[in-house]
Amino acid sequence: MRIYRIAAIPGDGIGAEVVAAGVETLAACARRDGGFDLAFDHFDWGSERYKKTGAFMPDNGRDLIKSHDAILFGSAGAPDVPDHVTLWGLRLAICQPFDQYANVRPTRILPGIVSPLRHVAGPELDWVIVRENTEGEYAGIGGRVHRGLPEEVATDVSVFTRAGVARIMRFAFALARTRPRRLLTVVTKSNAQRHGMVLWDEIASEVAAEFPDVTWDKMLVDAMTMRMTLKPQSLDTIVATNLHADILSDLAAALAGSLGIAPTANLNPERKFPSMFEPIHGSAFDIMGKGIANPIGTFWSGVLLLEHLGEKPAAARLMRAIERVTADKALHTPDLGGKAGTVDVTRAVCEALAGDNRE
Ligand code: IPM
Ligand code: MG
Repeated sequence: MRIYRIAAIPGDGIGAEVVAAGVETLAACARRDGGFDLAFDHFDWGSERYKKTGAFMPDNGRDLIKSHDAILFGSAGAPDVPDHVTLWGLRLAICQPFDQYANVRPTRILPGIVSPLRHVAGPELDWVIVRENTEGEYAGIGGRVHRGLPEEVATDVSVFTRAGVARIMRFAFALARTRPRRLLTVVTKSNAQRHGMVLWDEIASEVAAEFPDVTWDKMLVDAMTMRMTLKPQSLDTIVATNLHADILSDLAAALAGSLGIAPTANLNPERKFPSMFEPIHGSAFDIMGKGIANPIGTFWSGVLLLEHLGEKPAAARLMRAIERVTADKALHTPDLGGKAGTVDVTRAVCEALAGDNRE
């Protein structure tokens, strides 16, 4: 039997609660499947470790996880640690060196969940946002001089490379091709940003020629927010820069009903390094320890993890279990307007898995 090694990194805040729920659910999924097993190694990396030792993970941290089959990540962020320190100390310290350049964010209105968009039926919003995940506005290039003086200067330089843009564009076109509508929207801001974003547009046209069976169009990011809100049916697969897609994916999550549901895959498609799966929601310190964190974002990330491992039937089974549970309003956590706790949702998903007789 194939045994996959999974590195679990709960991180901060509600990360610990949702990753524990995710590990339990994925283990139940493997038991139900019977064809594979998952062995979890747990790593206590995060802000607590940073406050004690000055580092979010050990110096050889990446070596410890580079041979794992996948990484399940919770969240990073603490009220008393600056956000940019946390981000660069943990999440980006894994994503960028592991070349997880394709950040994939499916968005749907799951059964039982009400979108804030009036007149939009569930099936009318079915998107996958592909976020460039290694460069662009998150390149980390820039600096500050003359600190504290009136002439202080700060720069953040966006970096767009032909190789980086071409590979994310190819990934997005290829993904769009696997979806029934074969429809891709390329988002930029090439009217105002006349260098990097124009390069995106040019490379989009070049790569499009390799995918004649995919219909594609271009949107400026500002207009894209309106199209997502007013014409969600007109979109399917979406590709955008690191920052644009970061912003659009929060909008997408809100339109689909809750950030608590939204999943992410940080993929290294060539599989030279492990890929990382995480809920989008963050550490949510305000609800930490209350037992009310929505674990669905982590479970759906688990679906993406299983798909990446090639365990397609198990992934489909977990997605069916998630949808059975969201359909029942008594199992909604407070972010969805309900009263259920993390444990209730987890138990219900595990029961739905055990009771799913489809192969
Ligand atoms: C996300 C998050 C992160 C990001 C934060 C936590 C730094 O918002 O994954 O979308 O901006 O990349
Ligand atoms: Mg974000």
